[in-house]
Amino acid sequence: MSWLLNSSIGRKFIMALSGCALVLFLIFHMCMNLVSFISMDGYIMICEFLGTNWYAVAATVALVGLILIHILYALFLTLQNRRARGGDKYGSSNLTDVAWSSKNMFVLGLVVLAFLLLHLYDFWFKMMFAELFAGKIHALHSIVVLPAEVGGHMNMLFGNPIKVVLYLIGIAALWFHLSHGVWSMFQSSGFNGRTWLPRLKVIGTIVATLICLGFAIVPIIFYLRSLGLGIL
Ligand code: HEM
Repeated sequence: MSWLLNSSIGRKFIMALSGCALVLFLIFHMCMNLVSFISMDGYIMICEFLGTNWYAVAATVALVGLILIHILYALFLTLQNRRARGGDKYGSSNLTDVAWSSKNMFVLGLVVLAFLLLHLYDFWFKMMFAELFAGKIHALHSIVVLPAEVGGHMNMLFGNPIKVVLYLIGIAALWFHLSHGVWSMFQSSGFNGRTWLPRLKVIGTIVATLICLGFAIVPIIFYLRSLGLGIL
């Protein structure tokens, strides 16, 4: 098992596995959010299901573990790539691509992380953490958002254009990160299949576009509704 931690291929494997699991979470989360357009009652039921109970807390802990593994291994691999390249940063076109991807994937990952912190404060902190600890920390009482209040909470949040822009920046960074993720993973592993590399690039772009459009439509529609321009 030590090859998973010590070898370069093992680290890339863990990066790919944690990345795939996170993409599955994103697909679930994006579909769940779209339910808010079909039925707010349905969305409230899902939020209740994901709310303050032991299995939701266990899922959150597992998710945080996955995110941490993904970030730590990204750090490992970025440092490893830098060391391996040494002084010859831009020696050949292939190296330029690897340099581009490792540098930008890392920066984009940081933007996604900043967005995630803002988003977790907006939703998870108020809907799960505050409710769990309101009994112990009195100040949290005024922050709690109950599942039944999620619609009003989204109206309030996404009625603010600054918040909408911040969310769209985060989702755009997520798009670049995801669409490049699959391809750069194969590219940096030295996979050079002439047929499959372009196909993987297209598949990565389609999946990233569908996920990010599904996310982006939520703040946009809620903002339009706040202007009285309800189209959904
Ligand atoms: C833009 C539209 C989005 C909306 C309306 C939205 C809504 C929500 C809501 C309501 C929750 C709380 C669920 C609950 O505990 O009951 C939540 C949690 C969460 N969201 Fe989002 N989300 C959006 C985008 C995103 C994106 C783009 C990401 C990732 C990059 C993300 C990652 C998370 C995570 C990690 C949690 C915590 C999950 C847990 O408690 O286990 N969300 N979101």
